[in-house]
Amino acid sequence: MTVIPTMLTCKRKPATDTFYHDVIKGLSAPQKYLDPKYFYDAAGDALFQQIMQCHEYYLTGCEMEILRTQSAQIATALQNYAGEFDLVELGAGDATKSVHLLRQLLDNGVDYTYFPIDISGNVIQNLETSLPEKLPGLRLHGLHGEYFHMLQQANRYTSRKKVLLFMGANIGNFSVTAASNFCQQLRQYLQPGDLLLTGFDLKKHPQVILNAYNDSTGITRAFNFNLLHRINRELQADFDTTKFDHFPTYDPGTGACKSYLVSLEDQVVHIGDDFAVNFAENEALYMEISQKYSLEETDQLAAFAGFKPVARFFDRKHWFADCLWKCI
Ligand SMILES: C[S@@+](CC[C@H](N)C(=O)[O-])C[C@H]1O[C@@H](n2cnc3c(N)ncnc32)[C@H](O)[C@@H]1O
Repeated sequence: MTVIPTMLTCKRKPATDTFYHDVIKGLSAPQKYLDPKYFYDAAGDALFQQIMQCHEYYLTGCEMEILRTQSAQIATALQNYAGEFDLVELGAGDATKSVHLLRQLLDNGVDYTYFPIDISGNVIQNLETSLPEKLPGLRLHGLHGEYFHMLQQANRYTSRKKVLLFMGANIGNFSVTAASNFCQQLRQYLQPGDLLLTGFDLKKHPQVILNAYNDSTGITRAFNFNLLHRINRELQADFDTTKFDHFPTYDPGTGACKSYLVSLEDQVVHIGDDFAVNFAENEALYMEISQKYSLEETDQLAAFAGFKPVARFFDRKHWFADCLWKCI
């Protein structure tokens, strides 16, 4: 096999186009990668909905069970620990799980505003349309943008105590080090007494985990390829998806489940007129991590970032945990 050395030319860097900038940065790295936050355009949102319906993708069912069956206990814990608060959800998606908690809090007569944050404008638009119909009386203020930028906005709109929801094992989309930094940074936007409810996918049989990211119907595959299609469409690129294979891996030692797209041949991909990148045959493009945790590791993460674990909610199989942390 002849490996062509990576050749990069980049004459143009439009400062305003962060998508372009991030893609070029990722494709220029020694280990090529794409930032997974760009998975979620309208097509990516729709594919993620389908992933959540896949029987192999147990995460949604597990966390849904927690929210469906234990929202009363979660609501009581939030009220006991926080008193009066507003609710901010990081990466709200379609809120199909959190809606159970939102309803429970309304039923309990809690006076709160719900601030869903999401990088997908499509998601925020849908929530603003659908949630008030499902939950009459809900005060909702959608925030479209990046987690921290929008959290800053939320802090401008409310000075009340905050309960943050970070569900769907979104935290797993960071490496352990990045998750530690993320939680530490998150803590800086919060006050002592604020709460954070985070969904962690727990370590379990490796095959169960691997299957979740390699479903038999090929939806996770399509979800990964959708990002290449998005780059083609929005950045005038020429990725040929038939020349890549979807390759998920899981390391039970570290708990890291990683997805790659592997180049099937030596090839050159162009992004617009000014950027070209070589892929060698069998070179892997790193797409995403889904980190799995033990309960001890979630506690260590909390302590590192300035939180105290106060409660945990599990599904019946104990495959998933929603962990409630209090800012100290
Ligand atoms: C895996 S989905 C989970 C959705 C939902 N929380 C659930 O549990 O079903 C991740 C969501 O986070 C959003 N997201 C990803 N990265 C983000 C970022 N950096 N800032 C804001 N939202 C982000 C995505 O648009 C997507 O809706």
